[in-house]
Amino acid sequence: MRAVVYDRYGPPDVQRLADVERPVPKEDEVRVKIHATTVTRSDCAVREANRRSGLAAALLSRVISGLRRPRQRILGTELAGEVNAVGAAVREFTVGDHVFGASAWRFGAHAEFICMREAAALAHKPAGMTFEEAAAVCDGALLALMFLRPADVRKGRTILVYGASGSIGTAGVQLAKHFEADVTAVCNTKNLELVKSLGADRVIDYTQEDFTKNGETYDVIFDAVGMLSFSRCRGSLKPGGIYGPTDGLQNIVLAPLTSRIGGKRVIFPIPPRYTKNDVRFLKDLIEAGRYRAVIDRCYPLEEVVEATRYVETKQKTGNVVLTINGSRVREGRDSNPRRSFKGPLPA
Ligand SMILES: NC(=O)c1ccc[n+]([C@@H]2O[C@H](COP(=O)([O-])OP(=O)(O)OC[C@H]3O[C@@H](n4cnc5c(N)ncnc54)[C@H](OP(=O)(O)O)[C@@H]3O)[C@@H](O)[C@H]2O)c1
Repeated sequence: MRAVVYDRYGPPDVQRLADVERPVPKEDEVRVKIHATTVTRSDCAVREANRRSGLAAALLSRVISGLRRPRQRILGTELAGEVNAVGAAVREFTVGDHVFGASAWRFGAHAEFICMREAAALAHKPAGMTFEEAAAVCDGALLALMFLRPADVRKGRTILVYGASGSIGTAGVQLAKHFEADVTAVCNTKNLELVKSLGADRVIDYTQEDFTKNGETYDVIFDAVGMLSFSRCRGSLKPGGIYGPTDGLQNIVLAPLTSRIGGKRVIFPIPPRYTKNDVRFLKDLIEAGRYRAVIDRCYPLEEVVEATRYVETKQKTGNVVLTINGSRVREGRDSNPRRSFKGPLPA
């Protein structure tokens, strides 16, 4: 099969297309023929062995992914496609089923085929959704859920989502609204309208206003782009308020420390857990019209290096999709043929 592989840590162009062996499903696994996947910030961080996050993070990254070179040569954390073979013990899926999900830290989705355990974060694709859209659902939304649930985001509570236009941020705004919280979102001028359309009760343009200086306080601050810190957010938290970062090794220490001390505290769900139940939860939300994946650009798999360079600008809005062997945009309800082209999508 064709896959994007990388044999050493480094910049986006260490990735190349190659012919590799097609995986064979074990007894409890399904093999998925992938139609669409994404390039995520996790792909980028692991590919360069977290070299921008300091020595400790870089070392930890290599301990996990391979000291000298990557053990898993194929990146890609989420996917949508078609079940193409099943192991003897598989009950939930049959050949031909349309599925979506997250391979998460096992990666392997930048390829024509992937094998996943039946019990993994995999579910039937939401009805009426294209493969491209379905591929972009899981990574941001599952990471957002991992924070929103323990932060007790619900009716009567106020949350500020910082970096509301990214993959995790666009998910965080929609899911916090689904949990009926009062949502303030922070983003750049160009994304104000989009973020409002996701349901935010109010939107702050960070180029015009510093939310830490406007006197407002929140029960929860979700730093969906990992650019803030607990010390910077403390003054904007209500008594007992929670700060939830998505990045920053120091938070591994701060989370247990602040929960022991009491008062304002940090929640940092590490390691992230991706579950089938959460993928099913997202499928139900999508089918009820209460969640959508925001897609910025689509590229064919062959242009993975270009797609990766764009993701690394840290300016993507929502998600960047890779299509494999041609787009499947005509499948499903929302079949806008323009989505098969590379480049910004129409609003
Ligand atoms: N904890 C985990 O397991 C885990 C897993 C994956 C990723 N992460 C981390 O989560 C973070 C977010 O990932 P993501 O994929 O959601 O990011 P992303 O989609 O790449 O975020 C891009 C967005 O960030 C916004 N942004 C850029 N600079 C900003 C600033 N100074 N202030 C506010 N917003 C800014 C941009 O919006 P504007 O154009 O409006 O500025 C853009 O829409 C990353 O730090 C990533 O490393 C953590």
